[in-house]
Amino acid sequence: MKKKMHLLPLLTTLLLLLFSTTNAHNITTILEKHPEFSTFNHYLTTTHLAAEINRRRTITVCVVDNAGMSDLLAKHLSLLSLKNVLSLHVFADYFGAKKLHQISKGSTTTSTLFQATGEAAGTAGYVNITDMKGGKVGFATSDNEGQYGEFTSTFLKSVEELPYNISVIQISHVLSSPEAESPVSGPADLNLTTLMQKQGCKAFTDLLKGSGAEETFAQNVEGGLTVYCPTDGVINSFMPKYKNLTTDGKVSLLLYHGVPVYQSLGMLKSNNGQMNTLATEGANKYEFTVQNDGEDIKLETKVVTATITGTLIDEDPVAVYKIDKVLLPREVFKAAPPAPAPKGSKDAKEKDTSEADAPGPGTDDDSVPADQTASDNGALTINGGWFMPGALSLFLGCLVLM
Ligand SMILES: *[C@@H]1O[C@H](CO)[C@@H](O)[C@H](O)[C@H]1NC(C)=O
Ligand SMILES: *[C@@H]1O[C@H](CO)[C@@H](O)[C@H](O)[C@H]1NC(C)=O
Ligand SMILES: *[C@@H]1O[C@H](CO)[C@@H](O)[C@H](O)[C@H]1NC(C)=O
Ligand SMILES: *[C@@H]1O[C@H](CO)[C@@H](O)[C@H](O)[C@H]1NC(C)=O
Ligand SMILES: *[C@@H]1O[C@H](CO)[C@@H](O)[C@H](O)[C@H]1NC(C)=O
Repeated sequence: MKKKMHLLPLLTTLLLLLFSTTNAHNITTILEKHPEFSTFNHYLTTTHLAAEINRRRTITVCVVDNAGMSDLLAKHLSLLSLKNVLSLHVFADYFGAKKLHQISKGSTTTSTLFQATGEAAGTAGYVNITDMKGGKVGFATSDNEGQYGEFTSTFLKSVEELPYNISVIQISHVLSSPEAESPVSGPADLNLTTLMQKQGCKAFTDLLKGSGAEETFAQNVEGGLTVYCPTDGVINSFMPKYKNLTTDGKVSLLLYHGVPVYQSLGMLKSNNGQMNTLATEGANKYEFTVQNDGEDIKLETKVVTATITGTLIDEDPVAVYKIDKVLLPREVFKAAPPAPAPKGSKDAKEKDTSEADAPGPGTDDDSVPADQTASDNGALTINGGWFMPGALSLFLGCLVLM
């Protein structure tokens, strides 16, 4: 009996580990405690690398102080090139101070996030770590041919170690390479409509072109854009309702499918909440709520709930996802002018008329009351996320005891 009792906490911990959706580390918070790294921290956020770092386990982040960063910034790289350079500072392995000083054979190479972007040719995404004379640890980047340069950067100190999740270490100089600094083919070269047209969003793209909304989408590419594109079949069955909209209504509906911020799938999963859209204008909010449901990501307007079913492109600063329903903004689809004096009120016995005039395709799953607030939904996730594993582990724990 005594032995079995010990299994309960173990099992609970195990299950909590398996099901936990909360992040174990937050690089922004870690670095906030050290003002000498504020510039580095700032650029981790603006390049969206922070979210990428928080998503990963067993990594090492090499930081440089503000003076070191000003050398890098003096090169006036574009934000995308800067992102590549900073990606070289994130290793896909855990190196605490102890491990750095005890590298077997005295030298090793490790792959970096730059390697993971797929933009690094040859071995340009790898860093050589070598134990040097006098207890120093040197870091060198490589060129395409696999030649490692001089060890211009050395280990200074450990900033924070959470074994074996994340090790944050300070190094003496920025790690860089001509490859990482080379100009990145900018998003300006990306023809969004052509891309969408070729990859299963032709009907939606045709609507963008026909309505003049195309230009608004194109203008937002450089600053960051996420597009939710209903697939061709979905658009086709929606056409009768679309044709019925006013010219302004059509444009608003289309702009409602774009968000002027880049959001990777990982970011959508970890940052649930309300989104402004390209249609947002002052008091006309045109927002929807992002809500993850296990592995699924759902978009909830007050009228309909759509699910992301695929990814066309997810490359900072642009992401395009396929969705299974047309997003219906309440601003358009609940704005039907109320009949001043409803004559035949026989049908409207119990139902409030404001709910009845919400049309829309595939509103079959629209069991959520239209007036449920988004903050209610937010609270539910947090509780739901923890309630499930807790209940499950208790249940299994009881089984063990029996
Ligand atoms: C990490 O911390 C920053 C600042 O404290 C916060 O803005 C951000 O949302 C956090 N990220 C996650 C994934 O919790
Ligand atoms: C790291 O670089 C040094 C110096 O160029 C080289 O001698 C060593 O073999 C490299 N280590 C690895 C594992 O490639
Ligand atoms: C590492 O991450 C796991 C969850 O993924 C967490 O439970 C654990 O406490 C973390 N370890 C440290 C040292 O923070
Ligand atoms: C995208 O390509 C199409 C066809 O080649 C062209 O008509 C359109 O103007 C291009 N759009 C942009 C924003 O360059
Ligand atoms: C189009 O609008 C009219 C008037 O508002 C409405 O009676 C009709 O049902 C609508 N048709 C469709 C397909 O939504």
